[in-house]
Amino acid sequence: MRVVAVISPKGGVGKTTVTANLAVSLARLGANITVVDLDPQNALRLHFGMAHDNSIGIASDDLPNGQWGNALLESSYGVNFLPYGIVDEQQRDFFEHKIKSNPDWLLTNLNTLGLQDTDVVLIDTPPGPGIYLQQVLRIAHIGLVVLKPDAASYSTVPSIESLIQYYTKGRRDFLGHCFVLNQMDASKQLCRDVLGMLRSNLGARFVPSAIHRDEAVSEALACQTPVSYYAQYSSATQDVQYLTSWLQKNFGLVD
Ligand SMILES: Nc1ncnc2c1ncn2[C@@H]1O[C@H](COP(=O)(O)OP(=O)(O)OP(=O)(O)O)[C@@H](O)[C@H]1O
Ligand SMILES: [Mg+2]
Repeated sequence: MRVVAVISPKGGVGKTTVTANLAVSLARLGANITVVDLDPQNALRLHFGMAHDNSIGIASDDLPNGQWGNALLESSYGVNFLPYGIVDEQQRDFFEHKIKSNPDWLLTNLNTLGLQDTDVVLIDTPPGPGIYLQQVLRIAHIGLVVLKPDAASYSTVPSIESLIQYYTKGRRDFLGHCFVLNQMDASKQLCRDVLGMLRSNLGARFVPSAIHRDEAVSEALACQTPVSYYAQYSSATQDVQYLTSWLQKNFGLVD
């Protein structure tokens, strides 16, 4: 399996949105895609129209090791996904303690899904450092960092790069990381400036075309649908298609 970690130094940049929509776009290339929600917000399921009262997920305390297949849901969009699950504070605490004491927890559980070498796994994470980032960067083959065109995102690029370096050090199967700018508004000078600076500072690590800020994205989420199904010709749909082709060209994600 090929594991893509979707990460960011700052919150609210669009990791979950990018994860869900990239997954759907990659599935259209014919890949077998599994998406894992490794964020206690448990928000990824909203993009796939999962029923609100379904509490199952990887953090559920009735889902012991080796049984991830029981939490795997089939979406209507050609993507299988594993929600985080609805847990109370005590359960979350227990779960986080469990994964902290087992650095191989993620890989062990993914291996129980019986995925093929060519299958792609996208993993959504909470922002910044922490146990979830540690778990995912220990096994990811590609790191996809999502940024917003603002000073806060720009200033945290060095910290996320050093975290990536720290957790992937010595791993010959780590292919590299890249940055994608989301919520780009070309009418704003600041957005254009940040785009220009990121492009020149990050060079080949920067996906040259950004994902634009597009109302269709929020509307699609309100309808619990991936944006490409909600608005096929929207700019966000085209931008995600560009990102898909760029990842395919640079990392050969899908055979
Ligand atoms: N390209 C876009 N155009 C318009 N709205 C967007 C776009 N990308 C994301 N959003 C909106 O921005 C908000 C944050 O997105 P999202 O939840 O995906 O961020 P996140 O990085 O996963 O946040 P967190 O760090 O809390 O997990 C959501 O309301 C989402 O609909
Ligand atoms: Mg999120």
